[in-house]
This record gives sequence, C-alpha cells and structure tokens, in this order.
Amino acid sequence: MKKNTFIFHATISLLILNYHLVCDSLSITTDQQALEAIKALITIDHSGILSRNWTSDTSFCTWSGISCDLHFQTQRVISLTLPNMGLFGKISPSIGNLTFLTFIDFTNNSFHGSIPSEIKNLHHLEKVYMGSNNLT
Ligand SMILES: *[C@@H]1O[C@H](CO)[C@@H](O)[C@H](O)[C@H]1NC(C)=O
Ligand SMILES: *[C@@H]1O[C@H](CO)[C@@H](O)[C@H](O)[C@H]1NC(C)=O
Ligand SMILES: *[C@@H]1O[C@H](CO)[C@@H](O)[C@H](O)[C@H]1NC(C)=O
Repeated sequence: MKKNTFIFHATISLLILNYHLVCDSLSITTDQQALEAIKALITIDHSGILSRNWTSDTSFCTWSGISCDLHFQTQRVISLTLPNMGLFGKISPSIGNLTFLTFIDFTNNSFHGSIPSEIKNLHHLEKVYMGSNNLT
C-alpha cells in the first residue's frame, strides 16, 4: 500500500516536472523565434548590431535592446528598445507572440509598411514609440 502511494506520488511529480519543462521550453522557443522573425524582416542593419549581437549562441535576454523578466519561472521578453539604429525593414507580425512585452521603442529608424495587427494580442503593452519611421 505504502509502496503504491509512493509510486503514485513519484509519477505525479514526474508529470508535473515534465509539464513545466515542456511549457518553459515552448515559451522560450516562442520568444526566441519571434525575435529571430523580427530580425529576419530587418533587411538593412547599418550598425550591424543585430547581425553581430543577436546570435543564437547567447541567450536572447542578453541581446542588445532586449530586457526580460521572470514569468512562471521562465525568462520572457518585456521590452524591445531599438531606437536610432538605422534599421530598415518591416515589422514582423511575430511581435504579437512576445506575450509579456510591455514596452516597444523603434523611434528613428526606417521601418516601413504597416504596424502588424498582431500587436493587439499584447495585453501587457503599455508604451509604444514608433515615431520617425515610414510606417503607414
Ligand atoms: C550584445 O550586447 C550586449 C549589451 O549591449 C552585451 O552585453 C553582449 O555581450 C553582446 N553579445 C554579443 C554576443 O556580442
Ligand atoms: C537617428 O538615427 C541616426 C542613426 O541611424 C542618428 O545618426 C541620428 O542622430 C538619430 N536622430 C536623432 C534625432 O536622434
Ligand atoms: C506565433 O506562435 C505560434 C505558436 O508557437 C506559431 O504557430 C505562429 O506561427 C507564430 N506567429 C507568428 C506571426 O510568428
């Protein structure tokens, strides 16, 4: 009886552990993938910051312009601060996947096209600065 109880508890613990591991790796992948998709639509990066600094061998939380915060035991992107960098390109709809984003500053770059409607999915967003671009 006691042995069964132990096995039952051990199994439940393993299930819970697995659940956390799967959820954590999913959200990390999603934030990193979203940032990579954002980078991919920036076709000119005058200062070379993104090409030199946003590399997959370092954690995306250490990338220039990125701040993270702990949410449900996982580092999530909370701000995206890329002003005055001569960035040319479109804003990827993947930005809508950065669930915990509160702050965006893209001031004074050469972003063009429209602001993706996916930005509406960002329920924690408080401040957005996109002045001095060519957005419609
Ligand atoms: C990227 O930039 C940040 C801050 O500007 C720096 O701390 C980090 O070491 C840089 N990473 C790489 C890979 O250059
Ligand atoms: C805008 O960004 C460029 C770099 O792309 C910089 O040289 C310029 O000083 C910035 N303008 C302002 C008003 O900060
Ligand atoms: C957002 O994430 C979902 C699930 O991970 C993925 O299927 C979707 O393609 C992503 N959307 C964008 C615009 O990247």
